[in-house]
Amino acid sequence: MKLLVIGSGGREHALVWKLAQSPHVTQMWCAPCNAGIAGERLVKNSSLVECVSIGAEDLPGLLAFAQEKKADLTVVGPDNPLALGIVDLFQKHGLRIWGVNQKAAQFESSKVFSQQFMEKYGIPTAAAGTFDDAAAAKRFCASLGGRCVVKADGLALGKGVLLCTNQAEAEQAVDEIMVGRAFGAAGARVVVQEFLEGVEVSLHALCDGRTAKIFPTSQDHKRALAGDLGLNTGGMGTYSPTPFLTDAQLAETARQVLEPFMRGCVAEGIDYRGILYPGVMLTKNGPKILEFNARFGDPETQVYLTRLESDLVELLNASVEGTLDKMELKWSPLASVCVVMASGGYPGNYAKGKVISGLDAAARLANTKVFHAGTAPHGNHIVTNGGRVLGVTAWAKDLPAAQAAAYAAVEKIHFDDAQFRRDIAAKALNGIRITVIKSAPPGPGPAR
Ligand code: AMP
Ligand code: GLY
Repeated sequence: MKLLVIGSGGREHALVWKLAQSPHVTQMWCAPCNAGIAGERLVKNSSLVECVSIGAEDLPGLLAFAQEKKADLTVVGPDNPLALGIVDLFQKHGLRIWGVNQKAAQFESSKVFSQQFMEKYGIPTAAAGTFDDAAAAKRFCASLGGRCVVKADGLALGKGVLLCTNQAEAEQAVDEIMVGRAFGAAGARVVVQEFLEGVEVSLHALCDGRTAKIFPTSQDHKRALAGDLGLNTGGMGTYSPTPFLTDAQLAETARQVLEPFMRGCVAEGIDYRGILYPGVMLTKNGPKILEFNARFGDPETQVYLTRLESDLVELLNASVEGTLDKMELKWSPLASVCVVMASGGYPGNYAKGKVISGLDAAARLANTKVFHAGTAPHGNHIVTNGGRVLGVTAWAKDLPAAQAAAYAAVEKIHFDDAQFRRDIAAKALNGIRITVIKSAPPGPGPAR
């Protein structure tokens, strides 16, 4: 099979790495790619994955390329091309593509749509209201005593969610989003949710329109700094599995969420084929869904795919064809930990072009994989080219061992102003001593 993978982040490097292990794959392209993806080889014939400089949102360019190369399957990583309708476009031209169509992508592209769907189909979520009128939104915030979360309806680069602890903050949040339009048209409507307390975990399920197969649990670390301080980021590190949900609780959560979800999709005429990634708060009243994403998480993918034993090409084919009920997802019992190394200053302003050293030494470590995100080739070097630069991932018999292995690999890698959290997976270890690594202070991270 000839595969085209769309995207250029750590998630896409993990997808490419895992897909390249399939004996079904004879040729692979990635658009627009990164320096790490460019170094991957196919297990089948040792050929390199080829980088193509077409942007992930250049739908006509990607379509023309897939047609010219006669790609057998296109795999979409990021949310934007899905929300723009890349799946519908490819299907209209008779091309096979994996990912959700535009209607299904609304679960991520519209928080109002998701909230109303969850309420209609009895999916456990926060008490909430949806509003297109600022005054009504503020009255609802007041009914929650001002402890609430105000969310812009549309895609806002992960920034359109404002956590408020009193009515003054809530009114300011509503004004910022709906009146000041801080996130543009995404703020024409808002969802206001009650402020939930608890432990947040990530779930993933692979869906084929009728069947949803749940993955093991994972947990992201969204804040920039250790101890969950600093600004929200795209994700600074993950581990899988988490101890916060037992297998029995995971199965029960899947029953409470996935069954009504798939039933609701069928009732609404939504053909959901792709990944469903619910963000879940484990509250004292049980799990509550905070949001739905309609694609693989980043960096959740890095820990999931280092634990997946099944052939990913076969699974994605089954998701496209509607035959997932016949497939088994096999997971390694090992634990996996991914530590994101970011550019100093991320998620605020940061410099690019810093030379990265030590990648070869890290590559020699067993059960370790350094996934690239914001990297680019420069002469004989690889340099930083984005906020999140690397996802240093290691797997081992248990979480402490995987954590120690991931940080041992981080120790080998250097670039100026590298910023990373030293406490990835620490929450899960509860009392178990964590090896303290690198004595240098963290890079100049965001102040808040
Ligand atoms: P979202 O994009 O909706 O997942 O929100 C981004 C982040 O805001 C989540 O990862 C949570 O940490 C936090 N958050 C969202 N909704 C709530 C809520 N209802 N209560 C508490 N925290 C929330
Ligand atoms: N891990 C956060 C995200 O992918 O949205």
